[in-house]
Amino acid sequence: MSSTGTAGLEGFVAVRPRELGVRPEPTWDTAIVVGREVVAERYYRLVLRSPSITRRATAGQFVMITLPQNGSEQILLPRPMAIHRRHQTDGTFEVIFNIVGRGTEALATVQVGDQLLVTGPLGRGFEIPPGASDVLLIGRGIGVCAVMGVAEDAALAGVTVTAVLSASRRSALLGIEDCRELGARAITVSDEEGTSDISELKAVLQAEYRGKAPGAIMVCGSGRLTRMTAELGAEWAVSAQVSLEAHMACGLGYCHGCAAPIDTRPTEEGPLVCLDGPVFDAVLPRGDLTVSEQ
Ligand SMILES: Cc1cc2nc3c(=O)[nH]c(=O)nc-3n(C[C@H](O)[C@H](O)[C@H](O)COP(=O)(O)OP(=O)(O)OC[C@H]3O[C@@H](n4cnc5c(N)ncnc54)[C@H](O)[C@@H]3O)c2cc1C
Ligand code: FES
Repeated sequence: MSSTGTAGLEGFVAVRPRELGVRPEPTWDTAIVVGREVVAERYYRLVLRSPSITRRATAGQFVMITLPQNGSEQILLPRPMAIHRRHQTDGTFEVIFNIVGRGTEALATVQVGDQLLVTGPLGRGFEIPPGASDVLLIGRGIGVCAVMGVAEDAALAGVTVTAVLSASRRSALLGIEDCRELGARAITVSDEEGTSDISELKAVLQAEYRGKAPGAIMVCGSGRLTRMTAELGAEWAVSAQVSLEAHMACGLGYCHGCAAPIDTRPTEEGPLVCLDGPVFDAVLPRGDLTVSEQ
């Protein structure tokens, strides 16, 4: 398995039927950086103007960003980033990232007025099932950014949103302002406050939705939350969708370096996170009715 951030998810992920996927053709664009700020302690938020990408992007899709030269270093491969917000009025979209290595370190050096080569929108995003009147979003850490586009679509469609925002520390929570702006109800949990425990959170959600399940659950950012989502999806018999991460060289389906952790025959390659995902169905492995926490 070449995917990262997906350890322990074997059997919990399935490819959605292809006919459900809406995948606009990607475009290459020179996006202008029109906003840059540090948010929630350690994250960088960039606002990029690219009307062509913003117009086409659907919730849960991502872009590949070619990195600016950092000192004497030019990094060859672009880096994938979720499209966090889309603003159709001025043709801008937002990405939020934290510095984990050379690429994101270079990205953190960009300033307002700079230009970035961006490819997108890419991948298959989240889909609000037809007729759903409410959805439950769950994001941990930077994973909040992958699900927030659903809250944008839901606000336009009159669909009610509850968003579980999870982080290690309360001060590092992302998405609170976005939820407020989009009319979504936020449930914030953190390790620091002892409220992010999976079994407790699951019990809270079961109580919350007793008698009326949400129309869908969408998750990103944590294997344990993904397994919980698969369990709740099975229990409530509703669509459960997960956005996965993987190391990506191209983001376009050419390099085959991003296969997902999905059971296939030994001779078959798993689906590609960049092309068949990043959003997949979160399912219980066959025969599993309960899943141990881990
Ligand atoms: C579809 C998609 C959407 C993403 N959206 C965001 C986003 O909105 N914000 C954000 O901050 N990051 C996001 N990422 C992850 C981001 O692309 C990586 O953190 C980034 O490429 C790391 O580049 P780097 O050169 O800084 O780090 P590297 O030097 O490449 O790696 C530093 C460390 O991070 C690990 N790592 C690198 N890439 C990944 C990955 N994809 N998954 C798990 N571990 C990884 C490496 O194993 C290493 O330990 C997304 C990834 C994907 C696939
Ligand atoms: S990143 Fe190249 S095929 Fe997915």
